[in-house]
Order: sequence, then structure tokens, then C-alpha cells
Amino acid sequence: MLNIKKFLFDFIKNFLAKKKIIYNINLIKIKFIKYRKFGDYQIYGIKNLEDKINKKNNYLFIINNLKLELKKINFIKEINIINFNFINIFLKKEWMEKELKKILISKRLNISKKKNQNNIVIDYSSPNMSKEMHAGHLRSSILGDSFFRISKFLGYNVIKINHIGDWGINFGMIINEIKIRNIENKISNLSISDLELIYINSKNKFNTDKNFKIKSNYYFKQLIDNNKKYVKIWKSIINLSTKNNDKIYKLLDLKLNNNDILGESFYKKFIPFIIKDLKNKKIAIKKNKSIIAPLRNYKNKFGKMMSVVLRKKKIYLYSITEIASIRYRCKYLFADRIIYFIDKRQKDHLLYSLHISKKANYINENVRFDHYSFGMILDNNKQPFKTRNKNNLKLIKLINKYIEKTKEFIINKNKLLLDNKKEMENISKIIAIGSLKYFDLSKNRLTDYIIDWNKIFLLNNNKLIYIYYSYMRINSIFNKINIKNLSKIKFIKKSNINISNNNELNISILIVRFEEILETVINYGTFNILCNYIYELSIEFTNYYHNNNFLLLEKNKYNSLNLILLISKIIKIGLYFLGIKIPKKI
Ligand code: ARG
Repeated sequence: MLNIKKFLFDFIKNFLAKKKIIYNINLIKIKFIKYRKFGDYQIYGIKNLEDKINKKNNYLFIINNLKLELKKINFIKEINIINFNFINIFLKKEWMEKELKKILISKRLNISKKKNQNNIVIDYSSPNMSKEMHAGHLRSSILGDSFFRISKFLGYNVIKINHIGDWGINFGMIINEIKIRNIENKISNLSISDLELIYINSKNKFNTDKNFKIKSNYYFKQLIDNNKKYVKIWKSIINLSTKNNDKIYKLLDLKLNNNDILGESFYKKFIPFIIKDLKNKKIAIKKNKSIIAPLRNYKNKFGKMMSVVLRKKKIYLYSITEIASIRYRCKYLFADRIIYFIDKRQKDHLLYSLHISKKANYINENVRFDHYSFGMILDNNKQPFKTRNKNNLKLIKLINKYIEKTKEFIINKNKLLLDNKKEMENISKIIAIGSLKYFDLSKNRLTDYIIDWNKIFLLNNNKLIYIYYSYMRINSIFNKINIKNLSKIKFIKKSNINISNNNELNISILIVRFEEILETVINYGTFNILCNYIYELSIEFTNYYHNNNFLLLEKNKYNSLNLILLISKIIKIGLYFLGIKIPKKI
């Protein structure tokens, strides 16, 4: 499939280079035009080039020449220049018809795998092991999962990393408390909420009880020195948490598994060297009992120079581990790109860690570094979810509540399902997890969003249900006309596709843009674009359905069947890319 936007972009870049025009390519924008009266794609910003090269009216020359060149492209039917600035392009129908055919007969929807494989490291989910996963981890987990599914399909070499919080003084505290309670041999019998209570309890004591603090420091020091007795306790704590998180990953149908864990503790062996290295490079200095890295370029609100604490009284902190992991990802995993799915509150932490890593030459300018941050999940009072005991809402509770609400919705919609309890449970689960994901991924990533339990299944809130209905309707068309047997499908595939009305044109344009959409999502982390795209395709299908009587098909109508077959294929794989399963029925 052709990524039209990218093709046009590269085309213009080449054109400008050939004409020896000095330009800043970022000034040139290409967008898809939703209402195709004036064109399908629009190129603009050429006018801005004039200032760059300081020759008046020169842009007219550029624009006219560019038009002549663009005319030679095989997929372009018509070009209109508006206000000497906007170049509007119409796609050629015949070209689309051929593309659709190629997409239809190809196993991969004619999307080829990337040839020069880039290594992309994605850091997501990454919960802390002394606590239960909370609602905030949902976003990181499902954004990362969708990114993985798409980039893998496109042929990138993607390395998933679950950067779990499995190291730090909190494990000294927990071990201390466990020893006091004398339960070190019973850890595997604990529930994850028991563990969290032990953690909270020990933290309170740590802050108020001096002896407890000394003892906790001692235990953590034993972990650092690899004392087998305490490492064993630590390992069983990590095991307990891991098992629990794994259940959630399975429930959410994430591609994340135990092999993807590369937690904070992994980097401890590199840290003494890194500290020494940073000191030698004059990036880190000793101050009182700590080691800090001053940041000359960053000032706080009082105008004072900022600094990052790397080690505090012999204890290494979150930042130094971050730096060690950046170094590891570049030096040993050969990352070309590193992406973090972490909430927006950690923006500065990542920025400073990157800054220090660059100064130390642990990461070079060519490595792309993205923080795909996100907002919070709020309740209908616009407050972060809290449970009664003032803790964050546990992720498992959120998921279960969603499933419960979905069941109510399903039972109301489809009383028949009540007869088959097992099927109902299964369908509810698929729809609940699907809706939870769709709801999340379809939001602008950066904004906070509200989950209002009373509204989650109102029609305007649940576009996924609409998508499901469209998909199922297409399936039932194929069932009803009894075209399920292979030879007929083959026949459909053999016949050509003709675009003969606006509705078909809209559908076709959407379909030929699929790869462009996927690459946009991968490049900007805008998952909502894919969500909307699938929804729009479903809407176009519904219009098409109402204009066509699919049940009275004659031979020449195989055209329509081809088109809806394509739609259903794209909905199916599109939902797969979002990590969403399709139920047998609703
Ligand atoms: N463990 C952290 C938390 O739960 C997130 C870690 C994200 N990844 C990273 N490389 N810092 O907030």
C-alpha cells in the first residue's frame, strides 16, 4: 500500500533539492481533506519558502513548477492551486480501483514489511512491585500494547520492556516488616493486597521509627551486597507481584509476558561504573553525602540552577537507574528509537535523564527519544479515582467493574443470552475489555478523561459497539447469500472493483489510506486517529448498506461484495491493532 502523505512529502523534498532551493521542510504541510469537494490532499506552506530564500514572488515559480511535476504522478487526477498557496490534489479513481484489487488479494492487505529494520525499544506498563497495579497503569499498558502490535506488523524490530520497579529502599522496609511478622516462608501465600498493606505499614514505621529505619537500610544494603538469605525473600516478593500482574495482562489480552521484564534491579551492576564515569566527565559531583548532577541549562522558578540527585547516602535513586537504562538500550540493544509510555508527571524526570545521558555520550543525536505521555483517569467528580480507604483505584477493580457494567448492558440488549450463561460471560468480557481499550485509545492521549459508570454504554460513548455491529452485519450478509464457500469468495476476488458513486469513493479513499494511518500512529503516538478511522469506515459502510440491497445481488454486484469484504478485513485487523477482540455476537 502506498503511504500517500509520505510519498508526496518525499516527492516535494526531492523536487526542492533538485531545484537547489534552500528550504525548511517542516514549513511544508500535507493534510488529508475530509470533505472532498476541493480535493483529497492539500499541500500548503510553500509560500513560507519565500522568506527563507528572500526573493520576492519566487514562490509562484516554485508552486507552478511543482504543479507540473506533480501532474506526472500516476495517482493524481487533478491539481488546483488556491490563493497561490494551497495545492489541492484529487486522487485518480482508476488508480484506486487497481490498489483496492491489490489489497483484496494480498494476505497483508498489500502492506509490505519495512526493509531497513529499525530497532524500537518501548517501555510500558512498568508497575512498582511493592504495590498493586492501579488505574494509571492501564493507559501505559494498553497504549504500549497497541504500539507493539502495529509496529511489529509494519516490520519494525520492536523490543518490549517492562521496566518494573523492583529495586530501592522500599524492599528493605518490606523485608524488615516481613521479618518482624515472621512470615518470610509464607510470602507466596500472601495476596497482593496483603503485600501492599505490609508496604504501607512499613513505610509509616520507616518515617517515624528510627530503629525501623536503620534496620530497613541494613536489609537493603544486604540486598545490594547480594546476601543470599535476603535476596531469597526479595525474590519471593517480586514473584508474588509478577504473578499478580501477569493475571491482569492476560485478562487485558496484552502481548506482554515475563520475558519482557527488565526491571530497575537489572541495572544495579552498571551503576558504580556509571557514577565514576559521570564524575570523571565532570557531569556529577559530590555534595554533602549525596552525588548530584547539576543541570546548567535548567533553572527552577526562583532562577536557581536545577540538579538531579543520583545517589543519596549510598542509596542510588530512580534517575541513575533511568540513565543506566538509556545507556543499556543504546549500547547493548542498539536502539534507533526509544519510546516511554509514562504519565505526564514524569516529563521532567525523563527530560533530565536524557539530558545527562546525552552529555555523557550514552545516547547520540540520531536516536529518537519519545515520551508518549498521557493524562489521568478521573471519576465523575473529576477527581483521580480513589477507593474508600483513600488508596488509588486498583486496576483489577476497574476492570471488574467494567465487566459487571457490560453484563448489565448485554442482558438488557439481548435477553436470549441469559439462557447460555457461559457464552454471556465470555461475550461480556470481550466487550468490556474492548470498550475499556477503545474508550482510552480514542481519547486525545494528553488529556485527562472521566469514567462515569452511568454513561459508559450510552450510544455516543460507545463507538466500538457501532463498529461491532457493522462488522457483524457484513458477516451476516455473506452468510445469508450463502457465499461462504470458497469458490464464490474466489470469484469475488477475481472480479474487478469499480468505483461508481460517491459512497464507494469515500469507502475507497479510506481503504487506500490505511497504511498512511498506521504510520501516522507509529510516528506520533496518536492512537485516536486509528480509532476514528475504523469508526468512519463503519459509518461509510452503514450508508452503503442502506443504499444497496445486498440480498438481491446479481452477478455485477460482486463489486459491492468486494468492497464490503475489504471493509470487514480492515475493521478486523484494525481492531486487532488496538488490542480489541470481536465477540461472536452482541
Ligand atoms: N515504575 C514507574 C511507576 O509506576 C514507571 C516506570 C516507567 N519507566 C521508566 N523507564 N521510568 O510510576
